[in-house]
Amino acid sequence: MITTFAEPCAAAHWCAAQHAQGRSVGFVPTMGALHEGHLGLVRRAAAENDAVCVSIFVNPLQFDEPSDFERYPRDFERDAQLLAESGAHMAFTGTLAGFFPGGKPALEAPGPCAEGLEGALRPGHFAGVATIVRRLFELVRPARAYFGQKDYQQTLVVRDLAKRLGFPPIVVCPTARESDGLARSSRNVFLAPAERAAAAAIPRALEALAQRWRAGERAPEALARALRESLARPEFALDYATVRDPERWTSSEPRERLERCVALVALRLGSVRLIDNRALHTADGAL
Ligand code: PAJ
Repeated sequence: MITTFAEPCAAAHWCAAQHAQGRSVGFVPTMGALHEGHLGLVRRAAAENDAVCVSIFVNPLQFDEPSDFERYPRDFERDAQLLAESGAHMAFTGTLAGFFPGGKPALEAPGPCAEGLEGALRPGHFAGVATIVRRLFELVRPARAYFGQKDYQQTLVVRDLAKRLGFPPIVVCPTARESDGLARSSRNVFLAPAERAAAAAIPRALEALAQRWRAGERAPEALARALRESLARPEFALDYATVRDPERWTSSEPRERLERCVALVALRLGSVRLIDNRALHTADGAL
């Protein structure tokens, strides 16, 4: 059984009732078109909280390309069914006017982790993410909120936001993958069969880089160059393939030898933009 709401304020009332009963609420914000990646977050939230609430809202504030927003897959009924099966208690959606009854919101400044990579390539994206996530946190007032490592830079931006707000603790969950290693994404359905086959080269390139790390390579420039070389394929239009110190975000590539490392990739394949990342210093790539 799952309770659903189409009005954010009704969802906020439901959450307030949970709090009044002393029940902890775990929160998973999403844009719907749910897959195993999202459902893994829901199962983790169900294991760690008394009640689980999921938002499903294709947030127009964070899309830098109108065509990407228009064609983003939407199926609330199917999503609600999957959520019920995964242990969620409540799911809600809303309109931009429903989330911000006072009119167009002032955009949240997303902080220094929004600089570089996704922030540089998608102007305004993280301001849009931080604005909606702040509103969602204020409505739900969760005990914990769950995010995927798949969107690594987003986890940093959201952690900074939660620190500024004083809540909630952010739990980052490992990336769920298809059997050939491709990170699950709502946008994978737009890949043509040949593109889908080619996309498996992304996790292979990240795995090969982890091999280099294990063999002792620690120079950021050499690691990034190796990653770019293994992704040099005619069908890939590379946005970036680079490395960062996961303990210290920098907008550009670090220069000094790394103690820990996360490798990040974004590329366009046909009409689809894919992103992925992997920690190199951990056995399974999780951070
Ligand atoms: P969305 O892309 O729907 O993702 C919702 C959550 O699921 C994010 O935390 C994302 O990192 C996580 N996720 C997506 N694919 C995953 C995978 N393969 N493995 C593990 N986790 C995965 O991210 C957003 O929505 C939005 O920016 C949002 C935070 C909801 C704000 O609008």
